[in-house]
Amino acid sequence: MNNKIPLYKSTFGSSNLEILLLGKIKFFTKVANSEKTASLVRVRLGKRNLVIAKTAEAVKYFLVDNYKNYEKRTNLTIAFGRNIFTSSGDEWVNFRRPLMPIFSKKVFESNFDEMKKIISCFYSSEFNIEDLKKMDVVYFFSKLVFKLNTNILIGNDFSSQFEIFNKDLLYLNKYFNELNYRFIKSGFLNKLLYKKADSEFESALLRINHLVKTAAFNHTPARENSVLDRLLKVYHSESNKMSEEDLINQVKMLIFAGYETTSLTMSWLTYFLCENPIYQDKIYDELINLSIDSIQDLERASITKNVLYETLRLRPIGWALTRYAVQDDEYEGMKIQTDDCLFTSPYLIHHSERYYENPEVFDPSRFERISVEELGTKYLAFGAGPRVCIGENLAMIQLILSVRSLVLNFKLVNLSGNIESNPQTTLMLKNPLYVSLIKR
Ligand code: HEM
Repeated sequence: MNNKIPLYKSTFGSSNLEILLLGKIKFFTKVANSEKTASLVRVRLGKRNLVIAKTAEAVKYFLVDNYKNYEKRTNLTIAFGRNIFTSSGDEWVNFRRPLMPIFSKKVFESNFDEMKKIISCFYSSEFNIEDLKKMDVVYFFSKLVFKLNTNILIGNDFSSQFEIFNKDLLYLNKYFNELNYRFIKSGFLNKLLYKKADSEFESALLRINHLVKTAAFNHTPARENSVLDRLLKVYHSESNKMSEEDLINQVKMLIFAGYETTSLTMSWLTYFLCENPIYQDKIYDELINLSIDSIQDLERASITKNVLYETLRLRPIGWALTRYAVQDDEYEGMKIQTDDCLFTSPYLIHHSERYYENPEVFDPSRFERISVEELGTKYLAFGAGPRVCIGENLAMIQLILSVRSLVLNFKLVNLSGNIESNPQTTLMLKNPLYVSLIKR
């Protein structure tokens, strides 16, 4: 059998127009639901030929079982060069291998006290009482995660450069998102239309490059136990295959990959805690009597962890994961052609009634009945297969410690009402979220 993958026919005559009118999440949900029997559905978006994997089994095939045939091709390469995130095949193995031991829980044990200290000081030192009455949540957590990540990843505190860095990174995110949906991809008209965006992109990139280069090679030496310091040891070792450029690209990518993902997760979590105050109390009751002196202690914070997993189920920050077929392939009798773009969406899977009872309801207790490990590719907050998120351990440590400081000190009240999601490269918040922090 070599059947064609069913093609989605837009009711608007053009899928590009429909995606613009409906928004990405509604559009992809509609496309996925348009096909009742097949597990794949094809959609044409401009020149791109997207194959949507509707089921967790299909996702498993593309991301886990036959991952070698499905490579990443991302325009992030323009900004971050070749690195663990942007490469594929043997090149990717060479980038991923030296990072694996560095990102283990055991290694982060030596950064634990520092992370705890940064987080607990942050609430009292960075903001005055007036700020806490009306806290801009995304800004607040971006600042915290930037401080944490510059300390842990590059071993220097670059907090003084936060404002400019934050603006630049947000700009890059917006730029990449728009790049994917540009109607005109090349030529004179493209240059004319996007001249301003392209030049702002160049300047943002230059500043980020400078920051990382300074941190890596010119600044006060990175602290002993930072990720950069550990990477530099690999870089200086005889067996290394890394050039100086590779090293800088890796570090830039890690900063970028760990920044918005973690801060947006904290922001969505704050939103859900405001909507479900009972979970503020449950977390408080769990953590008030739990002494947290090591990473192992975090394992015992099961309610807090489940609240985080549920936040990431409803709002998976990496909401769309794409791969490109290296060679022709076949799935359930349907032909996949070389260069087809496989679109797997944690958002679609996490919101499917096929896998979750009342998928739209915030219910962390669902993870008491089944763990994320048991869910396999039905739970994709950190991806799946060999290219699963390398920063999951680091993110979970930072997230649990951050919620802990937040909930043990304050009650949270939403001042902004309902917040919808805004799917850019990451799953952002559509409007600013303001929250009042009331001292407990
Ligand atoms: C809550 C926070 C985070 C979330 C939700 C998240 C999510 C993800 C997802 C879904 C992927 C898979 C992408 C794909 O398959 O195309 C991924 C990959 C990756 N993440 Fe994370 N991430 C988080 C935090 C971090 C942190 C803190 C770091 C590092 C400091 C990091 C570094 C990476 C890297 C390097 C990859 C690429 C791995 C590879 O291709 O081998 N992430 N992340």
